[in-house]
Amino acid sequence: MHIVDLIAKKRDGKVLSKNEIEFIIKGYTEGKIPDYQISALLMAIYFQNMNDEESTYLALAMRDSGDSIDLSEITGIKVDKHSTGGVGDKVTLVLGPLLASLGVKFAKMSGRGLGHTGGTIDKLESIPGYKVVLPVEQFIQQVKDIGIAIVGQSGDVSPADKKLYALRDVTATVDTIPLIASSIMSKKLASGADAIVLDVKVGHGAFMKTEEEAVKLAELMVSIGKLAGKKMTAILTGMDEPLGHKIGNALEVYEAIETLNGQGPSDLVEVTIEIGAHLLLDAQIETDFETAKVRLEEALQNGTAYAKFLELVEAQGGDTSSLDNPSLLLSKNTIPVLSEKEGFIMDIDAMDIGKAAMRLGAGRETKEDTVYLDVGLDLHKKIGSHVKKGDVIATLYVRDKGIEEAKELILDSMTIGKEEKKIVLIKQTIK
Ligand code: URA
Repeated sequence: MHIVDLIAKKRDGKVLSKNEIEFIIKGYTEGKIPDYQISALLMAIYFQNMNDEESTYLALAMRDSGDSIDLSEITGIKVDKHSTGGVGDKVTLVLGPLLASLGVKFAKMSGRGLGHTGGTIDKLESIPGYKVVLPVEQFIQQVKDIGIAIVGQSGDVSPADKKLYALRDVTATVDTIPLIASSIMSKKLASGADAIVLDVKVGHGAFMKTEEEAVKLAELMVSIGKLAGKKMTAILTGMDEPLGHKIGNALEVYEAIETLNGQGPSDLVEVTIEIGAHLLLDAQIETDFETAKVRLEEALQNGTAYAKFLELVEAQGGDTSSLDNPSLLLSKNTIPVLSEKEGFIMDIDAMDIGKAAMRLGAGRETKEDTVYLDVGLDLHKKIGSHVKKGDVIATLYVRDKGIEEAKELILDSMTIGKEEKKIVLIKQTIK
């Protein structure tokens, strides 16, 4: 087999076989095929597309390029969720303990934030002492003992994806559905879970700007997961505005704690309960979707979900007393952002809000940047709120950078007008 023939085959719109895709991924991971040939192949895929089988073979070959975690020692059905990335998305922090409190096994490897989107691991690091790195045996033992562990990626998961993603970034080939789907699924399939719910975000603050594109991505990822033997669901949720109110690492832990105590913002609760209900059914703990939702609501209200969160934090070395008053985890230096107009908030560009938090230091522009865990913003007004000139629309939690830029981004992110708009959060479910 010669790579140049395979590039020509894809360039001419033909379908690559399983063996050919495996040859490409193995050769590239081992450094036998150079970047310039893979760049040409990526561009051919960009223009000629890949069918579902090719995308599945690509995801599986990438998964097999590195380590997969074996969770078979843990009894019961193990579940996982993945969000394609949003602003203020702290669902994992709430969902994990909530499901574990109802007997579901939640063994989660999460990532760090990049660009305008945050990452669960950075958020958890804002809890003093919380260890995001655990040896695999300890990770598995913790899930056996308390039903939940949330750690950073360990081992070398999908090294082919790391190389390919870096190359896509510099060859303008990130934005293509088969490559996005196989990249995400190569990592999800390595996570060892039996059932996976994908939260595919759609809107300004998301990778997928239109519902049509988001459906295509969701359907392809569900198909890849099923072909690999997993129970799969995807929900399409709006990222027309940030999820919840608080954006920034410790701020998001704060809002997760409020939510786990039954005091969460309605959009965050809605998405968490929806994903949770699918996983409660997949884990065979419930058989009826509506009953599952009620049980999840109850666990948020009656303290059992929060008790599980405290168990998780304690098991991973975190200082639970720091959570008694989580406002102590936030920067003391706060600045209000005042509305310059009167009317209803009709639109909020979530991407701008994410960028505002990043400029304050809550996120990374490049992988090497360090983040300030105590900075970010609390957005007091959302789509549909009425504001008067001079009302506080957000509070910034700041250190030494990005303040003016963040204020400007927040003010520019909002369209204020006459219409009291309502948004639909959960747009579609794909099984
Ligand atoms: N997230 C990923 O992990 N991969 C992509 O290609 C896009 C988003």
